[in-house]
Amino acid sequence: MAKILMITATSDNNLALAEKFADAASGMGHESDIVNLAELDMPMFTVARSKELDVVPGMAALKEAMSSADSWMIVAPEYNGSMPPTLNNAVAWLSTEWQDFRALFNRRKVGLATHSGGGGEHVIMAMRQMFSYLGCNVIGRKLVSNKDKEANPETIEDMLNQLAN
Ligand SMILES: Cc1cc2nc3c(=O)[nH]c(=O)nc-3n(C[C@H](O)[C@H](O)[C@H](O)COP(=O)(O)O)c2cc1C
Repeated sequence: MAKILMITATSDNNLALAEKFADAASGMGHESDIVNLAELDMPMFTVARSKELDVVPGMAALKEAMSSADSWMIVAPEYNGSMPPTLNNAVAWLSTEWQDFRALFNRRKVGLATHSGGGGEHVIMAMRQMFSYLGCNVIGRKLVSNKDKEANPETIEDMLNQLAN
């Protein structure tokens, strides 16, 4: 049994997709949880603000959820051919915690999924680049869905199997 954390960047279709992954993971006997970055409503990262703020709202819970999971399923929509600011912002905050930066990202198994307005391939590429750069082992298979293309249950199951093993 693995502990797989679903991290969604937005609260509508991508949260629904994260819930599909979480339900499937539970059905396969894994432990799963969902973190909604949009709900955390973290302040915008700037270097000045990172020096001023002793406590970043939402950070402790986010770090605990992420560090205690075996693997992460990142679910985010495409925004302007890239990733949404909620995801980029959260990673900027997490990456400035230098002391255990490597422990959080390095070797972590990561899966990528999206429900986007049109294509969705660009946000997958953007996320793959960022999480690989941070040292994560991003699995090759990904899930792309949109209003004309339902999430494929077989892809969900295969990705969860890869994240669990
Ligand atoms: C600022 C903004 C930029 C967007 N850019 C793209 C884009 O480049 N490609 C795309 O396929 N969809 C784009 N969309 C559409 C979103 O990916 C789509 O609405 C998605 O369902 C949003 O996620 P949600 O339903 O979880 O809120 C954009 C939406 C917004 C608000």
